[in-house]
Amino acid sequence: MNLAAATPDDAPAMASVHAQAFDTPWDESDFEGLLESQGIFGFLVSDEDPAGVLICRAVGGEAEILTVGVAPWARRRGVGLALMTAAIGAARVAGAGEMFLEVDVDNGGAVALYEGLGFVRTGLRKGYYDRGAAGRADALVMRLDLTSAAH
Ligand SMILES: CC(C)(COP(=O)(O)OP(=O)(O)OC[C@H]1O[C@@H](n2cnc3c(N)ncnc32)[C@H](O)[C@@H]1OP(=O)(O)O)[C@@H](O)C(=O)NCCC(=O)NCCS
Repeated sequence: MNLAAATPDDAPAMASVHAQAFDTPWDESDFEGLLESQGIFGFLVSDEDPAGVLICRAVGGEAEILTVGVAPWARRRGVGLALMTAAIGAARVAGAGEMFLEVDVDNGGAVALYEGLGFVRTGLRKGYYDRGAAGRADALVMRLDLTSAAH
């Protein structure tokens, strides 16, 4: 597994992984714009092919995971954990004292990943995700204390 800090040149690879991981993916220009923005950083994991992506914002002492996704063929091999661990380290270096993320309440795999890293549930956003014909789904808000967590 090769994990590297992402640059705007990685936008095509990141968009290709995102399209495999999400029903409503971000495109190349989304990634390019984000990676050119102040306070935003990302990581890309590649195997033979791009396998996992993460984008994080760290501003004013707070970090937020904006997206993390792993291609289905690369899951359950530690890629998501490696991306999150890298983001936690980089957020600390950027001076963040806490990290937040939102996750679909029904996304048990992602919640397990985050809880394993020490994230705790701090809130619920009712109807946060639009699932089209399936209606709306609630989002859990999760927080990690970066000043005391061991990761
Ligand atoms: C959630 C996601 C990022 C996990 O990536 P991954 O590379 O498969 O995760 P890892 O292999 O690093 O898993 C680390 C740990 O997290 C937990 N975990 C991850 N996926 C899990 C699943 N489907 N079911 C249960 N636990 C899971 C396990 O504890 C796992 O450790 P283990 O494999 O030793 O049991 C990936 O499934 C994904 O991209 N899903 C679609 C997009 C998504 O939901 N993104 C998150 C939105 S908030």
